[in-house]
Amino acid sequence: MNRRSLLAIALAILPIVALAADPRRDAMLSDYAAEARRLDAGFTAFSPQRGETLFRTAWNGGDARTSSCTACHTANPRQAGRNAKTGRPIEPVAVSANPRRFTDKVEVEKHFLRDCKSVLGRECTALEKGDYITFMAGQ
Ligand code: HEC
Repeated sequence: MNRRSLLAIALAILPIVALAADPRRDAMLSDYAAEARRLDAGFTAFSPQRGETLFRTAWNGGDARTSSCTACHTANPRQAGRNAKTGRPIEPVAVSANPRRFTDKVEVEKHFLRDCKSVLGRECTALEKGDYITFMAGQ
């Protein structure tokens, strides 16, 4: 492959990578990893599979209108959602569809607290939060 086509490919890929990656999300994930390790010395890494299970499972213990994250965020994270309680629209939660996701720690913590209580009837753990963000970052 010649240098010009290599350059063309690099220029085509660059904006995608630049859009999706965000140092604030990386910092957030390292904070959650440190917390997960503090709670369980056996912690090794976050898992997008566990994050997806958290997202799709119908839980017991929360508000009956919202037994799953998908009740508001829909089964397709790349799609816009709708708040099952208020009917208000919600922007997509997948990072590919919404690169600003998981970049503001205060917002993220606020919604994890409220949404996990609404769905699971309890707060999410650092492990669950890291798994969820890791899943959404790959969507
Ligand atoms: C009752 C509806 C509802 C349910 C159920 C719900 N969410 Fe949300 N979620 C929202 C709304 C509304 C927002 C804020 C609006 C926005 O960010 O677009 C939000 C935002 C978030 C955010 C903030 C993301 C960011 O970067 O700003 C996180 C994290 C989140 N939700 C996680 C979850 C998880 C995990 C579940 C399932 C355990 C869940 N949500 C279930 C309504 C819901």
